[in-house]
Amino acid sequence: MNQEDSTQPTRKPAEPCILVIFGIAGDLTKRLLYPAICNLGSSSLLAEEFRIIGIAMEPYTTKSFRQKMTKEVKEFVKDTAAKKFGLALLKHVDYLSGDFSDPKVYVALKKLLKKFEDHKASKNILFYFASPPEFMSTIAIGLSKAGLLKEDENCFRRIIAEKPFGHDLESAKKLNQQLLSMVNENQIFRIDHFLGKETVQNLLAFRFSNGLFEPIWNRQYIDHVQITVAETLGVELRGAYYDHAGALRDMVPNHIFQMLSLIAMEPPVSFSAQYIGDEKVKALHAVQVLTPEQVLERAVRGQYDSGKINHIAVPGYRSEKNIASESSTETYFALKLFLDNWRWLDVPFYIRTGKRMKVHTTEIIVQFKSGPSSLFSGCQQKAKPNLLRIYIQPDEGITLDLNAKIPGPSLQIGPVDMKFKYSDYFGIKPQTGYETILYDCMNGDHLLFSSAEMIETGWALLQPILDVWSVLTPHEFPNYAAGSWGPKEGDMLLEKDGRQWLL
Ligand code: BG6
Repeated sequence: MNQEDSTQPTRKPAEPCILVIFGIAGDLTKRLLYPAICNLGSSSLLAEEFRIIGIAMEPYTTKSFRQKMTKEVKEFVKDTAAKKFGLALLKHVDYLSGDFSDPKVYVALKKLLKKFEDHKASKNILFYFASPPEFMSTIAIGLSKAGLLKEDENCFRRIIAEKPFGHDLESAKKLNQQLLSMVNENQIFRIDHFLGKETVQNLLAFRFSNGLFEPIWNRQYIDHVQITVAETLGVELRGAYYDHAGALRDMVPNHIFQMLSLIAMEPPVSFSAQYIGDEKVKALHAVQVLTPEQVLERAVRGQYDSGKINHIAVPGYRSEKNIASESSTETYFALKLFLDNWRWLDVPFYIRTGKRMKVHTTEIIVQFKSGPSSLFSGCQQKAKPNLLRIYIQPDEGITLDLNAKIPGPSLQIGPVDMKFKYSDYFGIKPQTGYETILYDCMNGDHLLFSSAEMIETGWALLQPILDVWSVLTPHEFPNYAAGSWGPKEGDMLLEKDGRQWLL
């Protein structure tokens, strides 16, 4: 059944604005940002006056940059109407070449913006930091000194910041302080692209629009929760960044904590960014901070060796491009954590993420406690605990695992499931995940963005692990084969509790 039309509320075009992208020549723009802009445009969700200014080190002119983008639109924009829109929009794309730490760049930007002054969009400006993280404050300072961050009642000036937002608690705090000395919190939009994924957004709808689950969403009925973000990809061309980050920093304070907080939070008073943000932060505040001993018991790290992914041989992490030959960076991370509050006390949350794992999947599994009945103890198969499986990607949907009687004269039970697949109901539209994020930012809606407090609370929880790891070199690395489910310690984390990973 396809209910696409009846379920899509009519949305208005976003507020007119100029999008200034720092680092426009990189991968993010061609693979995700520009395709998302094209999808928005072809769905009539961009203001007519919308235009783009790109800034990067590469020595393009506006003309040669448009030529480069023409090729990229053809390659990366999938939908025909979106492609057409994207090619037409290129005449409204300007390019400035320069070094982000050079004040001349900001003078040139100001001059260019002046050229568009009569243009309705020119009052509102979104500065998108698609640049390496070390440039975040440099760019903000440059913009601030040029007077480009000042807004008034007639215009907005907003910053969109890509992760990583800091490298640890101290650097995240410092970055927040620096930015907040130049702009207000409501001018900053810290992106977590997982929040652009429909199924992540659906966690709120699922929990709070279905009266069925909320009464059992607690320690009385839930045995434990698992969150897995497994990737089959390795570090690709991002070795220089990844070898300094690792799996924990790359995935946990942001994507995994976003999902954890949406699963664990209390119902918000209303569906507003403020109330939902507050509840998410409260959920993270409830997470127990680990002692060094608990870090050793509950946190597992791993690094992939060579192996096979889909029958194809792939190299080990230490042989990848831009990775140190003796690197001790983790490419796998698993953790057991608890929340100290009425709803979740003593319910373990197991989280894990890894590169070069057996399958590519992001899933949240909620295991419910089994009933007290031994009615079916005589059956060949035991009744299995009920599982709620929330598939975030690649197949978006929700499944409830149940037990049912197997047809036949003797009483036997077996596993069955109830399935909801997004694609069955809503079709699949080519989306990058950045459409809603950009649209919301143009409209000033913070719902899908992280606050400074959320970021710092996340880092504060992880800091004890980073501290212990910084003094304990992992001599056992590499400790899992590419194409496996990670190191055996990751499995043991659950086995010692009498549980197992459920995928
Ligand atoms: C990014 C990480 O934030 O998320 C990458 O830096 C990771 O290492 C990616 O591969 C996963 O996102 P997605 O949307 O591809 O699942």
